Amino acid sequence: MRELLKGTTVGWLGHSAVLVQTKAGTTLLIDPFITGNPKFPAGYVMPAKVDYILLTHGHGDHLGDAVQLATKYDATVVAVYELAAYVAGKAGAKIIGMNLGGSVKLGDVTATMTDAKHSAGAQDDKGTHYTGVAAGFVLTINGGPVLYHAGDTAVFTDMKLIEELYHPDVAMLPIGGHYTMGPREAALAVKFLKPKLVLPIHYGTFPPLVGRPEELQALVPGVEVVKMEPGENL
Ligand code: NI
Ligand code: MN
Repeated sequence: MRELLKGTTVGWLGHSAVLVQTKAGTTLLIDPFITGNPKFPAGYVMPAKVDYILLTHGHGDHLGDAVQLATKYDATVVAVYELAAYVAGKAGAKIIGMNLGGSVKLGDVTATMTDAKHSAGAQDDKGTHYTGVAAGFVLTINGGPVLYHAGDTAVFTDMKLIEELYHPDVAMLPIGGHYTMGPREAALAVKFLKPKLVLPIHYGTFPPLVGRPEELQALVPGVEVVKMEPGENL
């Protein structure tokens, strides 16, 4: 456990799936892509409870198992308004629909929805549905660290606003390329965001996602880029 996490556990479940457990006991699951995720750690034991499921956008590798898990855990799904409504229509789940720039209180966590530059839309057997826009989340934990999960995104200069407003300690950034930024662009994101720690996500899951943590680390020598195995905690 790193000191800057101040007792908060941050676990990577492969791809963009991240499990956050605060010292006070709030459990948040971000982008729970489990079924069909080749990097989901085999034998991983999911927590006994999940309070909130946060979705950055409606693509299948992020929406993932959210509907089933919301039912299983009686968890509240937090997403952009239209995506939250889509999930509620599937599961009758408890939802918090929000939008870019807004914040909601989730136990001892303030979750702020940030911009992301990416497409959105959820696909099922009836086709592709409009599920709002792609987003990221800043999680400001009471007495704990500030975490930023960028979702799927290109680099954008308004990441400077995220730094100015929230000062993220940990930035979870996609680096795979093809569908998101790669290491070169993520290095510029690191410059804008000024995190103490970078957790690379959305790489290595599928063949096109070729970006690797070592490439990003070489471009940002002053900041620690953590290379984790799925299933490990920061
Ligand atoms: Ni996507
Ligand atoms: Mn994706």
